[in-house]
Formats: sequence, structure tokens, C-alpha cells
Amino acid sequence: MTQIRIEPVHAIIGTWTPPGDKSISHRAVILGALAHGRSVIQCFLEADDCMRTMHAIQALGVAVSKIETGEYIVQGCGATGLQTPKDVLDFGNSGTGLRLMAGVLAGQPFQSVLTGDDSIRRRPMKRIVEPLRSMGVTIDGQNNANNAPLSIQGGNLHGIRYISPVASAQVKSCILLAGLFAEGMTQVIEPSLSRDHTERMLAGFGYELEHDHLSVSLKGGQKLSACDVIVPGDISSAAFFLVAALLVPNSNIFLENVGLNPTRMGILDVLNAAGAEIQVMSEYISGGEPIGDLQVSTHPLKAMSIDADFMPRLIDEIPILAVAATQAHGETVITGAQELRVKESDRLSTITQELRKMGAQIEETPDGLIISGPTPLKGAIVESHNDHRISMSLAIAALIAEGDTTINNTECIETSFPTFEASLRELVRS
Ligand code: S3P
Repeated sequence: MTQIRIEPVHAIIGTWTPPGDKSISHRAVILGALAHGRSVIQCFLEADDCMRTMHAIQALGVAVSKIETGEYIVQGCGATGLQTPKDVLDFGNSGTGLRLMAGVLAGQPFQSVLTGDDSIRRRPMKRIVEPLRSMGVTIDGQNNANNAPLSIQGGNLHGIRYISPVASAQVKSCILLAGLFAEGMTQVIEPSLSRDHTERMLAGFGYELEHDHLSVSLKGGQKLSACDVIVPGDISSAAFFLVAALLVPNSNIFLENVGLNPTRMGILDVLNAAGAEIQVMSEYISGGEPIGDLQVSTHPLKAMSIDADFMPRLIDEIPILAVAATQAHGETVITGAQELRVKESDRLSTITQELRKMGAQIEETPDGLIISGPTPLKGAIVESHNDHRISMSLAIAALIAEGDTTINNTECIETSFPTFEASLRELVRS
């Protein structure tokens, strides 16, 4: 078992570049594989989740070569060039990898089996299985195909108009990727806009799409042309350090090259509304994605109110926002967050259990959290529940706790941010 032990610190100071965006890294290697020609990917996130997607792509016969850390060449084989995998495709802990690749494999005229670890085998797959079946794909799986392992026999797809009951980029992207191979138009309509990296990157690879507010459509059978991608820094990883700098006294950090896609900016909006004064600087666009630098220093926070409308724009940041809320003045109320119950762990329950051990006043509701602050935190022995974002959120809480904190089972951090502890140690001043 790996543990992280954290002592309270005096400040967080320095300049730091977050690792490559996880969502964009998955998409870059997938679209690179389906394109005609050679795509160079820079700043690819070398974390377990994204490496699993890369290995799946290689198992489908696509040549991927490493140039240096984070830099890869993908020799795309075009839409019809993937080959039958010799073995089961194992996506580890990655919901994004499994669900996006299910869309790609739905378009292939061969059978493949997708699986992953205990957590991924518990997560709901009906949300992709139903629309894929209605496109003509044959899918079997555990529990009436609601759970992986999933067996997919693809090919002969037709486009659909799908009104998604959940605002999920994994669902949207799965259907759009299947739609690349389908006859006619595929349209996805979401209840609120989820992250749009797939749409932006498809456009970068020369694929035409139509957008209309919450709807996106594409016509199957167009060609993807190779495109070089520089993956921006992951705002979801940066979020841990933004909150750390706000909470730890005397802190000031400068974060470079952070992805600032509007569909991911909920964390900045919520923290700034709470008084954080996070500065955004030097914004530019690369590969269709806005990128910029962020500067933040210690600041008192007011309680936050986060509802369903906000949720897709900060879905992964709720655990670290819960930590921020323990130090905010007043009652923070989070609603419309029931999707957190089907993430790597049931995050509403796991963050509540663990922050309570540290003395936080936090209550779980069916679809959210209520947190009162400011409450002094105390060091404790806490559990990751094998969830990377729970582990890292607890590590940040530990920085401001009185006494030492040990976080158990922190191996899961490898899935999204293997350099987390090293980065933290680099920025803290004891
Ligand atoms: C992701 C979408 C989100 C997010 C996940 C990454 C993606 O999941 O939580 O970490 O890259 O498409 P949902 O689409 O299930 O909300």
C-alpha cells in the first residue's frame, strides 16, 4: 500500500506547469489513430488512464512511437485501418478510455472485449450501450450489459438522433465517435453542455460538425487528416494547487499553460464568486483550445452555491471544492451532483466520510453536499477509496490541518497525476 504523509505547511510559492490535460490526451491519441497520416502529440499525459488508451490503440494495430517524455508520433491508419485485437482491451480505472473506445470499436467490423479494474466494472455502461445498440451495434456485457466487460461486435452503423438524459462528455463523445463510422447524420442533444474537447479536436482534424446550442451533429464517413496536437495543462489537476494557494496563508503561485476551455471553467467562476481573485493572463488559442496562465494568492472565501447548471463545468472539481468550502465563511450548498455517485468512487459519500475524520462539518444529501465553515481541520488517517481525486483533495486539506495526516492507498493518483506529490513538495514551504 502506498501512503502520502503530509505535515501542515507555511506557504505555497512558485511557478508551475500542470501536466497535460487527461481528457484531451485520450482524444489526441484516438483521433491520431483514425486519421490519415502522422500526428505528433506533445505534452501527452503519461498517466495510467491515458497510457491504457494508447495501449488499446496499439493493440488495434496502430503504430505509436515515443520521441521523448510526453511526445509521441501516432501513425494514423485511417477509418478502416484498425485490426482485430488479439486480446481483451483493459482500460484500468479509465471511464473515459473505455467509453470513448467503445464508440470507436462500435464502428469496426470485428469483435472486441473491453474491461478494466473493479471500479470501472461497477460503473454504469447502459448510458452508452443503449444509444450504440440503437445505431445497430451488437453489445453484450455483465448485468444486462450495464457493466464491463463489454463485448462489442461493430460495423454497419446508422446515424441516430440521441437526446441524452445526462450531460456527459463521455456519452456524447462515444456516440460522436461511433457516428464517424455510421451512415447518415448522428446528432447528440445534451441537457446542459458537457466538455467539448471531442468536437474541437474533430474540427482540428478536418472533420465537419454542426453545433446548435446543446446539440452537435456530424455526417459519417468524412476523412480525418493528421493534425499535430499540443495538449494544454489540465485545469482539473491545477485545481488542487489553486485551492491550496487560496487556503494556505502567505501563498502565491503562478500556473503556466493551463487549458481554459469554457466548458471546464466552472472552478474559476465558483472560486472567484467566493472572492478568490484568480487572475487569468496571456490567453491564446492552440489547436482550437484556449490556454493561459493563472495567478492566485491566499484569500478568504465566502460560502459557495453550486447547482446542476454548473455541474458539467466542474464535475471533477467537487471534492477539492468541498475542501475549499470547509474554510469558506458560511454554508456551502452543492446540489445536482448525483453523477458524482458513479465516478471512480461515490464521491459524495467518500469525501464526506474522509473530511469528517479531519473535523469538517460536511453533510451528504442525495444529490450533493452541505458544508459549513470555516472549521479548523485536524490531521487524521484517511482513505483514498482508490479514487485519485479523493486522495489529492485530502492531501490539500492536510496542508492546513493541525498535526500530520496520512492518506492510505494513494496508488490511484497514478491514473491522472503521477507527479502530484513531487509537484506539491516542490511548491510547499514548511
Ligand atoms: C470526461 C468526462 C467527465 C469527467 C471525466 C472526463 C471526458 O465524465 O468526469 O473525468 O474526458 O470526457 P462524464 O462525461 O461521465 O461526466
